[in-house]
Amino acid sequence: MKLIIINGPNLNLLGKREPEVYGSTTFEEYFKQLQNKYKDIDLDYFQSNIEGEIIDKLQEVGFSYDGVILNAAAYTHTSVGIGDAVKAIESPVIEVHISNTFKREDFRHQSYISAGAKGVILGFGLQSYDLAIHSF
Ligand code: DQA
Repeated sequence: MKLIIINGPNLNLLGKREPEVYGSTTFEEYFKQLQNKYKDIDLDYFQSNIEGEIIDKLQEVGFSYDGVILNAAAYTHTSVGIGDAVKAIESPVIEVHISNTFKREDFRHQSYISAGAKGVILGFGLQSYDLAIHSF
């Protein structure tokens, strides 16, 4: 089983960024924990702050990987292009968010990803990623 976690803008700052919302663990630390937990899964990780790079990565992996776990971060709420890429590829995409976006500002209630996603997991902190992997 080959899966990839794709993280969008500012998620490279996890651990430092608004820790009251996103926690104090860096994604690199958490990713190592996931790799240790899911030793049978070939788990990749990609992060970019650039919309087009996220689209390129979705196209690159989206016809061969068994699944994509996508936290498009702020682009979730703005990017028709990433939403279209999710619909265009064959690999199932699970949309994840660390925070419960429905408890937050109205602009975070809109997602361009959800309509093309197999499912959505949000609000469980970093554990949202674990639950997404577990769903495969
Ligand atoms: C987020 C929620 C988004 O609204 C926000 O822009 C992020 C992170 C989350 O994981 O909770 O950067 O996707």
